[in-house]
Amino acid sequence: MRRLISPDPETTAALGGRVAARLFEGAVVLLSGDLGAGKTCFSQGLARGLGVEGPVQSPTFVLVMEYPEARVPLRHADLYRLDREVEAVALGLEERVGYDGAWVIEWSDRFPDLWPADRLELTFRHAPEGRIIEAVATGPLHAPLLEAFPAAPAVA
Ligand SMILES: Nc1ncnc2c1ncn2[C@@H]1O[C@H](COP(=O)(O)OP(=O)(O)O)[C@@H](O)[C@H]1O
Ligand SMILES: [Mg+2]
Repeated sequence: MRRLISPDPETTAALGGRVAARLFEGAVVLLSGDLGAGKTCFSQGLARGLGVEGPVQSPTFVLVMEYPEARVPLRHADLYRLDREVEAVALGLEERVGYDGAWVIEWSDRFPDLWPADRLELTFRHAPEGRIIEAVATGPLHAPLLEAFPAAPAVA
């Protein structure tokens, strides 16, 4: 597990850029944390890092934004507005995530059973110093993505 204190949005976006540099076809990056905790900010930095040049908006209402022009085709999802797992299944998430490009999924923890076992899990929390971002890789495919985080834990 890696843990980082991010003092400002620029640091969170830059972390997204460092993850982007290591991203691969089939990658699954699951983002959880409260509203305003920085999930979209991170995703925007990640999209930029993959070479997306246009606007990267929160997919709160469209649910999935696709960036086929990215170095690895990027799918950015936000499941906040989905009420039931069947809706997520109807979006094709179960079949596509882990195969079809690289996926970054906000509020993925609302549907914990849908995702491949090997993934990168990031948890965002408000803190007096800014945001605390914790990263766990659950398998060998995604373990190299942890190198995007500073090795020394920023907090005890
Ligand atoms: N360290 C930080 N990292 C990310 N966002 C921050 C940070 N400090 C302040 N912010 C602000 O918090 C908000 C995060 O919003 P957003 O990324 O949309 O959150 P989420 O997608 O988790 O709801 C933005 O307004 C951003 O400017
Ligand atoms: Mg968001």
